[in-house]
Amino acid sequence: METIKIKDKEFELFIPSSEIEQAIDRIAEKMTKDLEKKNPLFICVLNGSFMFASDLMKRINIPAEISFVRMSSYSGTASTGDVKIVYGLEESIEGRTIVVVEDIVDTGNTMERMLRQLEALNPKEIKVSTFLLKPDALKHEVPLDYVALSVPTDFIVGYGLDYDGYGRNLPDIYKLKQ
Ligand code: IMP
Ligand code: MG
Repeated sequence: METIKIKDKEFELFIPSSEIEQAIDRIAEKMTKDLEKKNPLFICVLNGSFMFASDLMKRINIPAEISFVRMSSYSGTASTGDVKIVYGLEESIEGRTIVVVEDIVDTGNTMERMLRQLEALNPKEIKVSTFLLKPDALKHEVPLDYVALSVPTDFIVGYGLDYDGYGRNLPDIYKLKQ
């Protein structure tokens, strides 16, 4: 089993890039069908979703706009519950079909807070796509339209996800060694 070290912690290979690609192919095909003729605005949530957003958007073959917001709620390996918007949206979303692109929904706290803020800006509809979902950690009722993969409640890194800022550039996903 391939293991790596990031700062003080050891991680083991969990989801190889080939599996990641297949999962993204599946939801991209569905999203392309569903969103055709809707002129969607994709809102990617930085920093974590940058890799997923890039691979996903290359497979969405319809006219679409892409924008970025930044929120932060993690410190080390635990969610602090304190969600801050660090970087905001510049374009109007009024009357638009919005597709949120998130790396992972864990407790659902970040997504719930963000959806509330987006809804206040009167979009026509909001769809939510997330690369990963930790179903057993979910504490809020958030509508999830597109989930690429579900994972257990382990701490993971890679493919955009970080441990204290490191590991985002790994093409595969690794989980914390117990
Ligand atoms: P939530 O607000 O608890 O749903 O947490 C969402 C955010 O926490 C995600 O957008 C990620 O940035 C981060 N996060 C959640 N789980 C992990 C993990 O296992 N590794 C790295 N970051 C994570
Ligand atoms: Mg995130």
